[in-house]
Amino acid sequence: MSGQLAGQTIVITGAAGGIGQWLCRFFGAEGATIAALDRSDKVLELVETLKRDGVVANGAVADISSRDAVAGAFDSFGDVHLLINNAGVSRHPTIAATDPEGWNEDIASNLNGAYACTHAVLPQMVARGAGSIVSVSSINGLMALGDPAYSAAKAGLIAMTRAVAMEYGRYGIRANCVLPGTVRTPIWDHRLAKDPDVLKMLERWYPLGRIVEPEEVARVIAFLASDAASAVTGAAIPVDCGLTAGNIVMARELTLEDF
Ligand SMILES: NC(=O)c1ccc[n+]([C@@H]2O[C@H](COP(=O)([O-])OP(=O)(O)OC[C@H]3O[C@@H](n4cnc5c(N)ncnc54)[C@H](O)[C@@H]3O)[C@@H](O)[C@H]2O)c1
Repeated sequence: MSGQLAGQTIVITGAAGGIGQWLCRFFGAEGATIAALDRSDKVLELVETLKRDGVVANGAVADISSRDAVAGAFDSFGDVHLLINNAGVSRHPTIAATDPEGWNEDIASNLNGAYACTHAVLPQMVARGAGSIVSVSSINGLMALGDPAYSAAKAGLIAMTRAVAMEYGRYGIRANCVLPGTVRTPIWDHRLAKDPDVLKMLERWYPLGRIVEPEEVARVIAFLASDAASAVTGAAIPVDCGLTAGNIVMARELTLEDF
């Protein structure tokens, strides 16, 4: 897809986070104009770094759970060719540890915010007759792995993606999502503080025997955004080192084979 995105504007939400920073650098290196959005003001430092590296970039500090904040940010970004709904947060590990306020917070940041950003870009994409939206869902959107409010939001993101694909295909707009497995980013910091070995322990659940690298998520998003995926819309693609292929831990126990 080299060069395809040169001069095109890509909005990346959650840009200050682990995967977000990778996405900004990855697409910046492809020649795209990066519009980085995050509720953390670290996004402004990131934009300065990107600019020093020769990337055309601008940033907005905005909380996507606020429709006004989203509208203000998108006004400043101008024409958007690709929207990557990447912002996400997970703070409530079980139903028991979730109260109604926490549930609403997780749904607001992980699902309603992505909807608000999608709603903000669709009219201009319709007017141009082209556009692409890639949302970062999660394997949690497919099965119960804890973090129930987060997971419900991620399942909702898959449903939203399919609805956009169906309604807006006629305008040349494609919508897809990626479903990462475990990726080492700051989203894991609070669990690593509880148990520094947590990511190592998780590796045995993954057929590839390891967790996912942020760049591997970026590469699948890049494919979905490129002309190579011109017939792909409404797809939900796991980027999960094989986790959702089956239950490898149970399969080993069932077969009594060591694989
Ligand atoms: N890291 C993983 O293991 C993993 C696995 C599956 C899916 N994901 C998804 O990948 C995406 C990126 O996560 P990450 O791992 O880089 O985490 P991260 O915590 O490093 O980054 C998330 C970023 O989103 C921003 N954000 C959260 N809520 C926001 C809001 N309401 N408005 C604006 N910005 C907001 C945060 O400030 C942060 O910079 C998320 O959607 C996450 O759910 C991550």
